[in-house]
Amino acid sequence: MLESGRRPIIPSARSDVSPFMVMDVMAAAARLEAAGTHVIHMEVGQPAAPAPATALAAARAAIGGRIAYTETLGIPSLRGRIARHYAERHGVDIDPARVIVTTGSSAGFMLAFLTLFEPGDRVAIASPGYPPYRHILTALGCEPVLIDTPAATRWALTGEALLAAHRERPLAGVLVASPANPTGTMMTADALADLIGAAEGAGIRFISDEIYHGLDYAFPAATAAQFSDRAMVINSFSKYFCMTGWRIGWMVAPENLVRTIERLQQNFSISVPTLSQIAAEAAFDGRAEMDEVKHGYEDNRRILVEGLPGAGLDRFLPADGAFYLYADVSRFTADSHDFAQRMLAEAHVAVTPGLDFDPVHGREFIRLSYAGSRAETQDAVQRIGRWLRGR
Ligand SMILES: Cc1ncc(COP(=O)(O)O)c(C=O)c1O
Repeated sequence: MLESGRRPIIPSARSDVSPFMVMDVMAAAARLEAAGTHVIHMEVGQPAAPAPATALAAARAAIGGRIAYTETLGIPSLRGRIARHYAERHGVDIDPARVIVTTGSSAGFMLAFLTLFEPGDRVAIASPGYPPYRHILTALGCEPVLIDTPAATRWALTGEALLAAHRERPLAGVLVASPANPTGTMMTADALADLIGAAEGAGIRFISDEIYHGLDYAFPAATAAQFSDRAMVINSFSKYFCMTGWRIGWMVAPENLVRTIERLQQNFSISVPTLSQIAAEAAFDGRAEMDEVKHGYEDNRRILVEGLPGAGLDRFLPADGAFYLYADVSRFTADSHDFAQRMLAEAHVAVTPGLDFDPVHGREFIRLSYAGSRAETQDAVQRIGRWLRGR
């Protein structure tokens, strides 16, 4: 080997992003399970159910044939089907030409950030929030600006808070999710419209992460596309359609940016996995099945909302949608990471420390995902109750 080959290769400074703590919890849970312990998984943010039968059948039918590249922006019939979904669900007319199929919403964020922002740009995100927003922005040389979302604004980012941050130092963009991860809270249609109005009035680009749409219990989720054709809307088949591993999502982009995003995606990935696109189009015919899965989450949500106060966890944010409950554990700890580790080791319930989602207040919160079975959700309430009483 060449002498120069022995020198360590130093990773770039911008690749130095934080790990996702939930992965540590999952690894610890896996170790317990390997030793024969039954762990209840409430840390993982993914459905336990498979993709709709319609999607599986379409994929099975296609697999025998040639699986080739598709158009970079996605199979035209899938783009058309996604556009029709906006008419059916929200009464909004979307030109299929604005729909871009992506490799999960995760790819949508990279494409959106690269299209909208320059290195050094400041982008506001609600805190607590999904960690990869800030980590992807950082890796791309942008500055994530965390804005706290207090109880007074129903845990939502408001136009007022956004403009206050913009006055301090100008923002290039803002990203919100409703229903949100980790809180499950939703913005009302009025709150969303108000925030979009404030952002656009100040020249701040608006990105709406709508990945948990379809999983709304408190009131119907509004799409940013209802209020603006300049907002970048990002969505996915991962959650409502139970297709996490298929890695397929979509964007609805402002018309004049579609070609830019197409050029980026051509170079990054040529096209999105073909089989997943075929399955995704057929998934829209499986909504009755997915609504049943959703009713299961609703049941689990009720079990937690009614049962956790008796178990000792009586303060949580409005669990409006998604499949998360964000519980305040400040009565018990100021270190949610340690609390989650002990809950796993002693009660055998895996949850995610809030620190993953909020570097400041997250030490006083944990996130419970209720995407599992009803029996496990009931069992979790019992285990948490016994554990908290025994401490
Ligand atoms: C709020 C939010 N946005 C985006 C994603 C990314 O999902 P995917 O890339 O599977 O579409 C997740 C995944 O958990 C999420 O919770």
